[in-house]
Amino acid sequence: MFVRAGASMRLALLAITFTGSAAGASAQEIYSGLYPQQTGEAIYKGVCQGCHMPDAKGAIGAGAYPALAGDRNLKSTVYMASTIINGRKAMPSFGDGFTDAQIASVINYVRSSFGNHFPGSITPEEVKALRPAAGH
Ligand code: HEC
Repeated sequence: MFVRAGASMRLALLAITFTGSAAGASAQEIYSGLYPQQTGEAIYKGVCQGCHMPDAKGAIGAGAYPALAGDRNLKSTVYMASTIINGRKAMPSFGDGFTDAQIASVINYVRSSFGNHFPGSITPEEVKALRPAAGH
């Protein structure tokens, strides 16, 4: 009984939140708003460097935070985008906190900074296509 009530309360809340933000808002607007930074550099400094360090060399302390400088996995923009959208092991997901444009900006910034010179770039449209289809 208690559990059922809790579940329906949550559902009701969800419905309120959803109709509230869905009224006239595009999916893009629902994603946005958690992080104000727009440029790749500002996003990195505001959000990523707390774990990956200002020089992107990573750190080992309470957890292991991999270096993004010289990280050959970043050759793949898709790998990087899916890491940011969905999270990866101890890294939280940022899919709901960033717009497609913010995700593209930070990917393009990190792949061409900290000594990285990975060819190519990713567009917000390509990021959008990598988001999980269900639920959003
Ligand atoms: C709360 C800490 C934290 C924050 C904030 C964070 N990360 Fe991570 N990140 C991690 C951890 C831990 C891993 C390693 C996950 C694993 O074990 O595979 C990781 C892995 C990654 C990887 C994959 C590296 C590889 O070679 O597999 C990328 C790319 C990455 N992070 C980019 C970012 C970007 C860009 C941001 C900012 C938008 C960010 N991270 C913010 C903790 C964080």
